[in-house]
Amino acid sequence: MKPIHLDDSTFLFVLTGAGVSAESGVPTFRDSNGLWETHPVEKVASPEGFEEDPALVWRFYSQRRAGAKVVKPNAGHFALAAIEQKLGDRFLLATQNVDGLHSKAGSKRVVEMHGSLWKTRCSQCDRAPFADDAEYSADKLPGCKACSEKGTLALLRPHIVWFGENLDPTDLEAISDFFLKAKGKRFVFIAAGTSGAVWPAAGLVKQARALGAETWLVNAEPSANANDFNHVQLGKSGDLLPALLGV
Ligand code: OAD
Repeated sequence: MKPIHLDDSTFLFVLTGAGVSAESGVPTFRDSNGLWETHPVEKVASPEGFEEDPALVWRFYSQRRAGAKVVKPNAGHFALAAIEQKLGDRFLLATQNVDGLHSKAGSKRVVEMHGSLWKTRCSQCDRAPFADDAEYSADKLPGCKACSEKGTLALLRPHIVWFGENLDPTDLEAISDFFLKAKGKRFVFIAAGTSGAVWPAAGLVKQARALGAETWLVNAEPSANANDFNHVQLGKSGDLLPALLGV
């Protein structure tokens, strides 16, 4: 396979989804049929679900934290970290994954569009999210210290973008700033391991194309938005990303 032409003036934007972590042993959303145990994922990943049953939600995320602690990045993650070393500020990675594997592989310029399993924040006050890898049990749900100092009770929650919630505008700005810098230059856009069904991530390929990007899809199967790409490479991202990036 011929690598994508990436020269000294190329801007490279990569969007990743659950498929990129599949070879590390993290199950994708489609694999689980939208269910966790017997619960629809919306019940454990929405503000309404948290309101109704915070213990169930924390059990779900504690289990995901425990699972993600022991997994390792794969060749796809490492290839992205290696190409960033070459391109520097002409590279940006936006991921829908919350597992932190891109950072574990050494990626630095990462926008975690859907939040992070490794951060926690208050469900009520606007104190900044903080690093946290704790697993919480139903009899010991975490409370917000800042709120309790002010005399109110509030639970902490995972720093994850749940169903029905908006993405952080700062993250979207970082992506659009990069697109504007790349406009008019050689601009390559790669989406890898994502079903192309969840917005706004699924719409980024069209935005990039409108700005002149050459667009590549790297996925196990044709994604919902496969027609929006100039090039479609079907297979495993752990094989295809190193080959296409030439690293
Ligand atoms: P999905 O689980 O929807 O899709 C994963 C995609 O990866 C599928 O199209 C698979 O064919 C493909 N795939 C599986 N294994 C692969 C491999 N080894 N190499 C390449 N491709 C592979 O995951 P996402 O598209 O990431 O949102 O899902 C997007 C969002 O939907 C998630 O971030 C989550 C969910 O709702 C939130 O949690 C907010």
